[in-house]
Amino acid sequence: RLEKIWIAVSLLFIVGLIASIVYGVAGVGVGTVGDTGQQLDPSALDDTEFADPGGHWASEDHYVVHVVARQFLFQPGTQEPITVPANTTVTFYVTSPDVVHGFDVVGTQLNTMVIPGQVTEFTTEFDEPKTYGIVCHEYCGAGHQSMAGQLVVV
Ligand code: CUA
Repeated sequence: RLEKIWIAVSLLFIVGLIASIVYGVAGVGVGTVGDTGQQLDPSALDDTEFADPGGHWASEDHYVVHVVARQFLFQPGTQEPITVPANTTVTFYVTSPDVVHGFDVVGTQLNTMVIPGQVTEFTTEFDEPKTYGIVCHEYCGAGHQSMAGQLVVV
């Protein structure tokens, strides 16, 4: 009988593990064709909202941020911080005109790949004002180690 209990506990653990992995993928996904993301020709960024990246209110309770990740900076993020409101739904759209980058908000679950030709989309909410570091966690060339920025929640 004890064995059955242990098997049940093990199964629960495995199911929980799989659920957490699936949830993680669903929470911050990389957009692919036909998925939640959209395709984007890297040479046509100037014809999109990525031409003038940054944040704006999409409605009175939804903030939207466009970020371009490129060798070797985040626009915005590196030269000026990304600023977003606390206690508000925030959707990020991130793309790259050159190579694969990472977008990792240090100390949070927000950690995703940025792929040229695709828009990575994720939605989150920050519950208090705080400043976070952003780092690129995919090797993207000689300046990879210095590719970093700031996210300021106000
Ligand atoms: Cu961009 Cu590493």
